[in-house]
Amino acid sequence: MAKSITLHLNVNDKDYDVTLDPRVTLLDLLREHLALTGTKKGCDQGQCGACTVHLDGERVLSCLTLAAQAENRRVTTIEGVAGSDGALHPVQASFLKHDAFQCGYCTPGQIMSAIACIKEGHAGSEGEIREYMSGNICRCGAYPHIVDAVKEAAAETSRESV
Ligand code: FES
Ligand code: FES
Repeated sequence: MAKSITLHLNVNDKDYDVTLDPRVTLLDLLREHLALTGTKKGCDQGQCGACTVHLDGERVLSCLTLAAQAENRRVTTIEGVAGSDGALHPVQASFLKHDAFQCGYCTPGQIMSAIACIKEGHAGSEGEIREYMSGNICRCGAYPHIVDAVKEAAAETSRESV
């Protein structure tokens, strides 16, 4: 087995020191070491987007990111987007309102991607939303509702406040 490494990182505003095999991905660090199972594994090879999280505020595929790459960085997962009082993030609320999920397995990744999509300024039209959300696959076919949810959340929030 490869020699263990110790990492320092911040996840959802909480600091962690973790010792692990250097081959562990950020996705498996979250799910198996930190018990944050909201981030999902649909493929483990960068093709589905179910594992999307934010690294220093930008969306990344955590299955293609080694945990080691998160050293001294800030990770945000679906568990960290609601307010400290439990109030849903506007994008979460909008997904609920528009029925933008069915089984829910792609949903954490969709929501993390949607928050970043709005922040990037890529939610200006339905076509743009479809294009910039195309890295997240939904086998339940919730796409039309996802577009509605992202459109409304983008209209309600400013880019800085998402
Ligand atoms: S699990 Fe990462 S893209 Fe599918
Ligand atoms: S809600 Fe089931 S895969 Fe998207």
